[in-house]
Amino acid sequence: SRPIGVAVLGMGNVGTEVVRILTQNAADLRARIGAPLVLRGVAVRDASRAREGVDPALLTDDPHSLVARDDVDMVVELIGGIEPARALIKTALESGKSVVTANKALIAAHSGELAKAAEDNRVDLYFEAAVAGAIPVIRPLTQSLAGDSVNRVAGIVNGTTNYILSEMDETGAGYGKVLAEAGRLGYAEADPTADVEGYDAASKAAILASIAFHSRVTASDVYREGITKITSKDLEAAKKFDCTVKLLAICERIQTADGEKISARVYPALVPLEHPLATVNGAFNAVAVEAENAGRLMFYGQGAGGAPTASAVLGDLVMAARNRVYHGRGPLESTYASLPIASIDEV
Ligand code: HSE
Repeated sequence: SRPIGVAVLGMGNVGTEVVRILTQNAADLRARIGAPLVLRGVAVRDASRAREGVDPALLTDDPHSLVARDDVDMVVELIGGIEPARALIKTALESGKSVVTANKALIAAHSGELAKAAEDNRVDLYFEAAVAGAIPVIRPLTQSLAGDSVNRVAGIVNGTTNYILSEMDETGAGYGKVLAEAGRLGYAEADPTADVEGYDAASKAAILASIAFHSRVTASDVYREGITKITSKDLEAAKKFDCTVKLLAICERIQTADGEKISARVYPALVPLEHPLATVNGAFNAVAVEAENAGRLMFYGQGAGGAPTASAVLGDLVMAARNRVYHGRGPLESTYASLPIASIDEV
């Protein structure tokens, strides 16, 4: 099949890793999709600054022109924030280009409008990377559990705050020192206020509640408390009750006096040490799902960081590309490579 042109918008921690994987894994990706994925351009703030591993000719500071190019079939939006990301994604979808984004703030605020644009133009809008980094949660909820009825989604969905709380708990270090380290490790948002005040987790809760309960829930519908008031003393006190403190996002269907409603909330909570969520440390995330027929499911893995989040972006890109090439079927038999099978003596 003819090459599929990809534009990457934004080259922060995640964008850098997406470009690296696209380049390094080009042959595997081509085999899995049935057509080559070709990087047509990367939109950055300063195109004159050289980036390791990227042909300088691919850099541009004009994302609008890049998205409009005829040889761009799919757009990866990693700029973050509402504008210009929203306008760029809308233009891409309206010109028949599938979009992959990690932008939780945007999806949490405008998913209805963007999903409609994707639907009207029969293209894909995928955002697995917007919630819990590498962990597959969007696809399980929208596809694997599409025949079930989800009652509750709850867990740890912000790596920065989980890193801060677990480091403070383990080492007794102060809040400021640990926050700076989270930034250095590439977990925190450009403005870490979004992490520590719970806005990032609230966006993710809104996305999870929307897809789990087939409703439109925006970040402003989510009750939110951050971790800025948590001190080392609070963590010590929690220990006395055999508990730790975790920033939880909880989305559930509840019965109220007015009938069934959705509740979505984010706040630091006491978690008993024997609870599985208490053992989720560092930038790891965990999401527990309760569905009527499936029962309890647990998803666990790296919820922040460049490479883990890029893995989710690449997964979405492959899915969107397969949809273009052979209408969602796949992986095809012809895409299986023939690695030899090891004998038990070789293990
Ligand atoms: N700042 C986010 C976090 C990145 O710490 O979880 C992943 O969405």
